[in-house]
Amino acid sequence: MIGIFDSGVGGMTVAHAVENLLPEYRVLYFGDLARTPYGTKSQETIIKYSIQNTEFLLDNGAKVIIIACNSAASVASEILRERFSVPIFEVITPAIDKAIKTTKSGRVGIIGTRATIRSGVYEKKINGKSPELQVFSTACPLLVPLVEEGWTDKRETAMILRRYLYPLKLKQIDTLVLGCTHYPLLKELIQPRIGKKSVTLIDSSVEVAMSVRDYLIKNSKVADLLEANGENIYYSSDLTEAAETTAMKIFGREVHLRKV
Ligand code: DGL
Repeated sequence: MIGIFDSGVGGMTVAHAVENLLPEYRVLYFGDLARTPYGTKSQETIIKYSIQNTEFLLDNGAKVIIIACNSAASVASEILRERFSVPIFEVITPAIDKAIKTTKSGRVGIIGTRATIRSGVYEKKINGKSPELQVFSTACPLLVPLVEEGWTDKRETAMILRRYLYPLKLKQIDTLVLGCTHYPLLKELIQPRIGKKSVTLIDSSVEVAMSVRDYLIKNSKVADLLEANGENIYYSSDLTEAAETTAMKIFGREVHLRKV
């Protein structure tokens, strides 16, 4: 199984992209709804939770792990790779590679939670590969609760987005990385406010799914370990009505969330 974890249901944007691109493999998802959000927590706590989540997925049959949470990926990826021997993917690297390929002006914007932006991981990784690029980032802490509240098409959300995106607009970026699992659900509000034609949005959920697909094509031994056929399983450490509604919005169908 392909094990995917996130701090909540937002990471289902990644699970959805994986289901679409790799329908032949089973997905095992864990959303840590009981301890969400991660984006406001200390690095130490996020690392501890990420280790526990990975252990849970491995104990339940995952052979490949995807860290579907930017906040966890930004502080825990290296530690998880040192500690566990299975292939570990995360949402940041593929999004960065895509952003580098996409930008023409060399001005890239990043939006994410406080933990992600504070870690500076996007700047470090982008400039590690392409030092000539200019990276501008903004933390958008109000967006996750708005998405979880289901306010993905509300005027108030649009107003807040305009305010968050304005500094990036002034920097004349031509590429914007959606550095948080929840932001793909706001694409339609984000695109016109940052620039309809002038700015390309990078959706890390799609990018990580593509990088896993490429890896499995090249590494058939790992691919053979993954179970083909059988239902996908979605676990959550808590169940709430809002989570079920968000999950439904992401998949466009009802999703059976199991409490663990
Ligand atoms: N999943 C988190 C991320 O992608 C957003 C929600 C949270 O703060 O836990 O950064």
